[in-house]
Amino acid sequence: MEKEKKAKWIVIHSPALLIALIVNQFFIISANADVFLWPIPQSISWGAGPPITISSHLRITFPRHRDLHRAVVYYRKLMLSEKWLPVQVSAKPTSPTATVAAANYSLTWLQIKVRDISADLQHGVDESYSLNVPDQGSRAKLEAMTVWGVIRGLETLTQLIRMPSGKSKGEPIIEHGVSIHDKPKFAHRGLLLDTSRNFYAVNDILRTIRALGHNKMNVFHWHITDSQSFPLSLASEPLLAAKGSYGEGFIYSNKDVAKIVRYGRTFGVRVIPEIDAPGHTASWAAAYPEIVVCNNQFWVPPGVDRFANEPTPGQLNPLNPKTYEVFKNVVDDVASMFPDTFFHAGADEIILGCWKNSTDIQKFLKENHTMDEILTRFINTSRSFFTSHNKTTVYWADVITSTEAKVDPTLLPPSSTILQNWNGGSEKTKSLVQKGYRVIASDVDWFYLDCGFGNWLSNNTNLDQDFNNDPNNTYNWAPQGKGAGTGGSWCAPFKSWSRIYDHDITAGMTSEEAKLVIGGEVCLWSEQSDGVVVDSRLWPRTAALGESMWSGNRNEEGRKRSGEATDRMNDWRFRLLRRGIGAEPLQPLWCLKHSHQCDFEQTF
Ligand SMILES: *[C@@H]1O[C@H](CO)[C@@H](O)[C@H](O)[C@H]1NC(C)=O
Ligand SMILES: *[C@@H]1O[C@H](CO)[C@@H](O)[C@H](O)[C@H]1NC(C)=O
Ligand SMILES: *[C@@H]1O[C@H](CO)[C@@H](O)[C@H](O)[C@H]1NC(C)=O
Ligand SMILES: *[C@@H]1O[C@H](CO)[C@@H](O)[C@H](O)[C@H]1NC(C)=O
Ligand SMILES: *[C@@H]1O[C@H](CO)[C@@H](O)[C@H](O)[C@H]1NC(C)=O
Ligand SMILES: *[C@@H]1O[C@H](CO)[C@@H](O)[C@H](O)[C@H]1NC(C)=O
Ligand SMILES: *[C@@H]1O[C@H](CO)[C@@H](O)[C@H](O)[C@H]1NC(C)=O
Repeated sequence: MEKEKKAKWIVIHSPALLIALIVNQFFIISANADVFLWPIPQSISWGAGPPITISSHLRITFPRHRDLHRAVVYYRKLMLSEKWLPVQVSAKPTSPTATVAAANYSLTWLQIKVRDISADLQHGVDESYSLNVPDQGSRAKLEAMTVWGVIRGLETLTQLIRMPSGKSKGEPIIEHGVSIHDKPKFAHRGLLLDTSRNFYAVNDILRTIRALGHNKMNVFHWHITDSQSFPLSLASEPLLAAKGSYGEGFIYSNKDVAKIVRYGRTFGVRVIPEIDAPGHTASWAAAYPEIVVCNNQFWVPPGVDRFANEPTPGQLNPLNPKTYEVFKNVVDDVASMFPDTFFHAGADEIILGCWKNSTDIQKFLKENHTMDEILTRFINTSRSFFTSHNKTTVYWADVITSTEAKVDPTLLPPSSTILQNWNGGSEKTKSLVQKGYRVIASDVDWFYLDCGFGNWLSNNTNLDQDFNNDPNNTYNWAPQGKGAGTGGSWCAPFKSWSRIYDHDITAGMTSEEAKLVIGGEVCLWSEQSDGVVVDSRLWPRTAALGESMWSGNRNEEGRKRSGEATDRMNDWRFRLLRRGIGAEPLQPLWCLKHSHQCDFEQTF
């Protein structure tokens, strides 16, 4: 039954300054259960068969493989127990049979075929899959080149399953007649999580990895160490965590790491470790004060260059041979704990003021050497630590672009180096790919999830001003027309899901250049987050990247599709909640129950 309604709204945003007139005309189909997929597959076609129930004896046949076995056990249980009743009401059902009564037989067999069972979970592995639930019969087929493609297909299959309209009890149903051919647009679809500023329990990390898998994301970039704490226990350098962590209960053991890596494989998520160096290393000084310069120097006298971007300062001393003894042990241990061929070596944000605080370095500079040479010595000496383990090193792009200290790009061959770009947008990414590098896009203006949460430095007198009487103070507040005020957030504003979704990481590039952009990562730096808030910081915003990296942010006509994605995104938020991920709400629930009545512009 279709009902036509018209509404006219006048929304006045602020006194007489902006008047938006919104005229809405929309159609409502009587509350429909619908199929909402996230990320949406690259190609999907619906047949005409009625939906069928999922047999509680569903048999899944698949080739012998340890990770696939775990994935099948997990997903089979989800298929039978989730009993998903869509929350979002659809105005435009995507599947033709949404309101048709279920047939009187069940899906009893899911047949899985893998062409190359030996392909490992590494960068660039084939993740394509085909999923077919035919119009007739009780057997669905999932075929993929690799185990990792099968895992993507299992995820899609769970999203096709739901309860019939309005029923929360009984058997779940699946569309009967659906054919999906799917593959990712970008090979690298990740999240960076910083476990140094604040600590996350192993369970928080496992849950995050599972949520990545649900979004068909395949990289957990684990920024393990930084200046604030060193939370990783290492066999050959036990003092680093013993002295440099936040204490007992704030340390990841070898066993924890193995569990995290194994869990990642169940969901097709690679775990890439990052040991940031030579900057961001104050925490190493607790165990080895002699290899860290400018440590514990909090207040610099006027006229002296600052020592750090944030507390606490400290950088490895590249002129001290002991630095390399410790660093090599760290890299050796970490390389053996993480099977991924990528190893992130950091190298961002060298602060010259810090190095200048060392007598060794002062002497070296007096001998007419440069800061670039100091960084070069560090990178040149330590690169073999990674390459001896056959690792592809990922560095922050700073390593060749920083105006503070950088190395000559010839030191970092593109064949074994990937650069991660966190600022300067796609223009800067383009300049990196033009040098032949593969690049991971993580621009702060779009992809940083920690932005917009205000100041975290204490006793900041900016916060004690009489803002209302100072039209020039844009710190916490600003008068109309003068911006919003940042509240002290260094990278305000907050990056909304639609902003993340909108960002084109290959804008302005030729197709050859774009091929070198291997994908993107959203980043959660943890000055103001830990396990208590991690789910809502990450989700569902990270899901926006999941879709833009998997099947893009444009529709078949090449137009941006966040408007079209909203229903799916809304429903996905609730489905993530059901799956134990505390994703935050995006709209009043009313809007989900009244499809398209919260639209800003008339869409249809
Ligand atoms: C299922 O429905 C078909 C008609 O659609 C009918 O011929 C058949 O007998 C039914 N089977 C059962 C087991 O109810
Ligand atoms: C390091 O900085 C502190 C604080 O400014 C200063 O007292 C000290 O002399 C500096 N050391 C060197 C070697 O420059
Ligand atoms: C450093 O360079 C300056 C100017 O080029 C020169 O006068 C000086 O002798 C050099 N010092 C050393 C130690 O080479
Ligand atoms: C890097 O180190 C090697 C040998 O250890 C040396 O031959 C080479 O000149 C160094 N490269 C740079 C750019 O310093
Ligand atoms: C690195 O790769 C080479 C060639 O594939 C192989 O011979 C060597 O054993 C590998 N080394 C390590 C440490 O994995
Ligand atoms: C905060 O900073 C002000 C200005 O530097 C200083 O006078 C005051 O003592 C500080 N307050 C505290 C509690 O440290
Ligand atoms: C605000 O800035 C303007 C221009 O810099 C200056 O003339 C004015 O005095 C400032 N107002 C206050 C309240 O500080």
